[in-house]
Amino acid sequence: MPKSMIYSNEGTFFIENMPVKKLADDYGTPAYIYSRKIIDDTFTNFKKSFIKIDPLICFAVKANSNIAILNLLAKLGAGFDIVSGGELKRVISAKGDPKKLVFSGIGKSVEEIGLAISHNILAFNVESEGELHRIQSVAKSLNKKAAISIRVNPNVDAKTHPYISTGLKDNKFGVDENKAIELYLLAKSLDSVEIKGIDCHIGSQITEINPFIDSAKKLVALIDHLKTLDINIQHFDIGGGLGINYKEETPPSFLDYADAIDKVIGDRKLKIIVEPGRSLIGKAGVLLTSLEYIKEGHTKNFAIVDAAMNDLMRPSLYDAYHEIININNNQFAKKEYDIVGPVCETGDFFGKNRSLSIKNEDLLAVLDTGAYGMSMSSNYNSRPRAIEILVDNEKAHVIRERETFEHLISGESILP
Ligand code: LLP
Repeated sequence: MPKSMIYSNEGTFFIENMPVKKLADDYGTPAYIYSRKIIDDTFTNFKKSFIKIDPLICFAVKANSNIAILNLLAKLGAGFDIVSGGELKRVISAKGDPKKLVFSGIGKSVEEIGLAISHNILAFNVESEGELHRIQSVAKSLNKKAAISIRVNPNVDAKTHPYISTGLKDNKFGVDENKAIELYLLAKSLDSVEIKGIDCHIGSQITEINPFIDSAKKLVALIDHLKTLDINIQHFDIGGGLGINYKEETPPSFLDYADAIDKVIGDRKLKIIVEPGRSLIGKAGVLLTSLEYIKEGHTKNFAIVDAAMNDLMRPSLYDAYHEIININNNQFAKKEYDIVGPVCETGDFFGKNRSLSIKNEDLLAVLDTGAYGMSMSSNYNSRPRAIEILVDNEKAHVIRERETFEHLISGESILP
């Protein structure tokens, strides 16, 4: 996997065959830029690495939900992991195949369940007994059968940031192993649900292989146990969570990950589903931002840029590291800066104590922001959201327009 999708050639920075500076000149900043080639190559590489298992790759829409990107992935053969009616509608707008959809999430509404059933999705990943009853009743009212998996919480430490760890028994996700058997027996007795699979997802930005192996082992043991109860599991959804390299992490390669899963599955006849988000799209996006002011102080220097925490929340929310580079090739001495946005919060930063050679109006790129960048953005401080652009060789396509003030207040009204 490339270190970054931006490369330098004789002092000029490029994304594919497009000079980065030209993108900023033509479309302004802040701007999210994606590379079609990196998206294609990463997906193809993932698929190839998993060739022995031949899984259904269900891209986690929450990582990046732009319909142009979903459409590219759908064309490459991806299915999708969705967590809301909105994500379902996005997949349909992106011409994704509803029959390749798995629906995760702990709070599915009656309306969302009905929508998913009417689109004949592949499976609901059921996260509670209450949800199972709700699916049964909605399916019955529609005179349909709903396909389900139970999401099991394997109580495995994913060794990641606590906010993105989901497979520990104190987390709100899934049902515990013992309860899972009970739920399967209940599901078997319901006439409008059909047991298809089993599911787990233990967290995100996981950089070690063992948590994946431990949880897969636990689920495989459950699958074997269920068989003795005459419950036949056809697919095993192993979830997502594979990390990427932001700084010094060395996550397992796609191939190591695939091999480890393959070993645990052994010769069981199971269709595997995998729900990667970050590992497919994280390296395929950057956030371009312009330097507005340099503010030098006694103890700290600040580089104030035109993007902010509303555009990219990860540093503020998880103290996440993203590499930041200057697209202008300045030759003067570097200094240390905190790279911060204009939002009125001390937590509004992209990087701390970064050594850079920068001056006003330089163009900076915050790297590896293809996943959980734009999809987590907001309008905080009444800031219109950034434009999104997909670069394809030497062409740039606007895949989402920059928001305007009118977008911001649309739907609001004052009292008569
Ligand atoms: N499947 C389920 C059920 C999930 O909840 C998630 C992510 C995924 C798959 C995809 O996980 P991935 O392969 O991307 O790790 N906002 C956080 C990450 C939250 C992940 C939530 N669930 C961040 O920026 O790091």
